[in-house]
Amino acid sequence: MATADRLSLRPVRPADRDRVIEMTRDVWGGHDYVPRVFDDWVADAGAAFQALEVDGIVVGLQRLRPYASGLIWYEGLRVASTHRRQGLARAMLESAIAEAREQSFREMRLATGNLDAAGLFEELGFERIQDDRWWRGGRVEGGESARIPTADEADKLWAAIASSPGIELWGGVTADFNGAQDLASAELSRLAGIGMLRAGPGGRAIAGLREPWGDNLAVAFVAGKGGALRELLMALRFEADADGLDDVVIALPRDHPAGKDMHASGYDFANDDDNMYLYRLNL
Ligand SMILES: CC(C)(COP(=O)(O)OP(=O)(O)OC[C@H]1O[C@@H](n2cnc3c(N)ncnc32)[C@H](O)[C@@H]1OP(=O)(O)O)[C@@H](O)C(=O)NCCC(=O)NCCS
Repeated sequence: MATADRLSLRPVRPADRDRVIEMTRDVWGGHDYVPRVFDDWVADAGAAFQALEVDGIVVGLQRLRPYASGLIWYEGLRVASTHRRQGLARAMLESAIAEAREQSFREMRLATGNLDAAGLFEELGFERIQDDRWWRGGRVEGGESARIPTADEADKLWAAIASSPGIELWGGVTADFNGAQDLASAELSRLAGIGMLRAGPGGRAIAGLREPWGDNLAVAFVAGKGGALRELLMALRFEADADGLDDVVIALPRDHPAGKDMHASGYDFANDDDNMYLYRLNL
């Protein structure tokens, strides 16, 4: 069995490109995103993109990325199919946790859609904080996009939505699978500052956007209820159309009460079996 202290992890290098493409070819039916982001990840000195070698060949990958004060994001865990179930992923993750502790991070967060990996994360003490379902609303022509609030409005907006139904199901974070931020007024202010916050009528509904993975408007959280929320959900579909995007994609915690407003606004489950989980570990 591999253990963290016997592992030889080293930074991924540009020359590893072909091997990384080869070892991720059978991940997610050939649709792994790691080859697509490889060049950016190798070039990013602000994160630790690590390779595990066995007998001189790369068989494991992982990445640790600081992304907010005290928070480190864990992503890109891969073990070559020839080397699975030998404890390598567990040992790599243990090493990553030790490294994050050494660097005094407060919390490690990650997202996964792989239930096998979820078992590993739970064994190592990660707590599941979100169980999300994908909702999709097609683009609609002709209406007004939602208002983009100013960063100064964030406190007021947060006060208006902080007690909206189902807010606790977010587990205190946004469903941004590139780095879940704390869900609080500072996050509304940050999103507003980069043009990624949307407000419904009277600020009684809010949507925070995230970087999309495809041609869609991607939403990392929604809050509010009833007519205000429905109006905002429609406005997002109008915005997708105005921007030439296919649709709006929203990750919403399972059984969130906004589901009925989603249905009423023309949104559907994209795929009932396609889950995404968010995990956190106090370091
Ligand atoms: C998930 C993955 C990284 C696991 O790598 P691995 O080196 O085989 O994992 P380990 O041998 O360290 O297994 C550790 C634990 O994870 C769980 N696990 C791993 N693979 C599993 C599987 N196929 N089925 C069920 N549980 C599994 C088990 O709890 C296992 O402990 P056990 O062997 O004592 O039962 C690897 O299968 C992989 O690269 N998959 C494709 C990419 C992916 O899904 N990455 C995770 C995205 S966050």
